[in-house]
Amino acid sequence: MLLKASPALSLLSSGSTGGGNLFPPSRNSSNRLFSPSGSRFSVQAAKGTNTKSLTGVVFEPFEEVKKEMELVPTTPFVSLARHKFSDDSESAINDQINVEYNVSYVYHALYAYFDRDNVGLKGFAKFFNDSSLEERGHAEMFMEYQNKRGGRVKLQSILMPVSEFDHEEKGDALHAMELALSLEKLTNEKLLKLQSVGVKNNDVQLVDFVESEFLGEQVEAIKKISEYVAQLRRIGKGHGVWHFDQMLLNDENIPMAFYSRYIDGTTNEGNAVVKLRSNASDITWQVKMDGRRLTQGWQKFATSHDLRVGDLIVFRHDGDLVFHVTCFGPSCCEIQYDDDDDVIQLSSDSDSEKNQNTAVSGCSSDHHSCFVAHVTALNLSKDMLVNV
Ligand SMILES: [Fe+2]
Repeated sequence: MLLKASPALSLLSSGSTGGGNLFPPSRNSSNRLFSPSGSRFSVQAAKGTNTKSLTGVVFEPFEEVKKEMELVPTTPFVSLARHKFSDDSESAINDQINVEYNVSYVYHALYAYFDRDNVGLKGFAKFFNDSSLEERGHAEMFMEYQNKRGGRVKLQSILMPVSEFDHEEKGDALHAMELALSLEKLTNEKLLKLQSVGVKNNDVQLVDFVESEFLGEQVEAIKKISEYVAQLRRIGKGHGVWHFDQMLLNDENIPMAFYSRYIDGTTNEGNAVVKLRSNASDITWQVKMDGRRLTQGWQKFATSHDLRVGDLIVFRHDGDLVFHVTCFGPSCCEIQYDDDDDVIQLSSDSDSEKNQNTAVSGCSSDHHSCFVAHVTALNLSKDMLVNV
């Protein structure tokens, strides 16, 4: 805790006895802010009377801090940061970490099922893989929070999920989405329980963390998956499932792991603008983000870089919502831009190998710091980057 005196106020001694050995004596007692000898301090006006409290509020910070100092742990295995954090809260956070991991594990099993060669629903596979990563990300957020509060993370066992998701009557797609809906509702229930533990233990900070970081998003997730369930019920088990799968495949273009790590929570929802830079010019392109899609401004970037169907684009996060973009041709050679804007030359084979290595090494220290997008006819004709 930092004790600060406002310019208009000073902390002056109002007593004459007591320990008060936290601060050395001041040479000029008329100018001092802190009394070395007095044990009582009050908020007073700097000018005028120096005996009357201005606000009526009397502070005793140096008496009170002594009590806190006595409570600072000295044993090495005890948290120094822990403050007003109950055992109940600590244990409830560990339970929630386990819930997130279990849900992530089930989603991963669903991903593995839909990615099978004889199932072949890549959109569902992508959706469940993203969902799995998202839940693991939630577990990590709770782990970070546990450590922040001075709790101890204790991981628990994860149950083995089933690996078959076909359903005779509903089909696998609807059955899987209904399972996802149930899991999201269960997670919501567990989050509410965690919030109530915070309330019961007067842990305002835990309550704020759960409410601001999780509860709103959980309601969004339940709504979205409910819509998917309703749509799949209309579609039935037939040909429509393939179209639904394509919709999931093309739905959003920034991977959830990347989004959670670098973008989520850094901007006002609906107002996110990212900056794109490339080696082609010194221009910084401003592109709006809608959810996990690049939208307004994307098309200008694509046109200026003469992107064509089949090109590959690597986005690398450079901090503060700035992405460095490297463009590759269909043969994976980095596109070279001349000073003359109209001339584009592909590099030689040896250069391309070098360039690919450069692009890969730029991401190699942390594979989540990059994502790759494919240029398609759809994302050239619309002001929106879709279909990774
Ligand atoms: Fe979650």
